[in-house]
Amino acid sequence: MDDDIIICRCEEVTLEEIRKCIEAGYATFDEIKRLLRVGMGPCQGRGCREIVLREISRATGVPLEKLNPGTFRPPAKPIPLRLLTEEGEGD
Ligand code: FES
Repeated sequence: MDDDIIICRCEEVTLEEIRKCIEAGYATFDEIKRLLRVGMGPCQGRGCREIVLREISRATGVPLEKLNPGTFRPPAKPIPLRLLTEEGEGD
C-alpha cells in the first residue's frame, strides 16, 4: 500500500504516519490514537480502527485477534443529540 494513502479519513492520518509511530515503538491502537487522533473523528474509528490494527499486526507479527482493539467511548454509535435531551422519548 502507498504510504501517502489516508487511513483515517476523519483526522486525515496517512499510512506513513501510522508506520512511523509503530517504528518508534507505539504498538497499540490507543497509543497511536493518542499521538495521531486516529479513531477520534466523527465515526469514532469505524472507518480506520480495523486498518490500523491490521497495520500493527503486519508490522509486529502479533496476530490480529491477539491485539487490544482499544478503548471505545459511548456513544459507540452516532446518535442525534436531541435523543439525549428528550426524556422518555425515542429509543
Ligand atoms: S476514519 Fe478514523 S475516526 Fe473516522
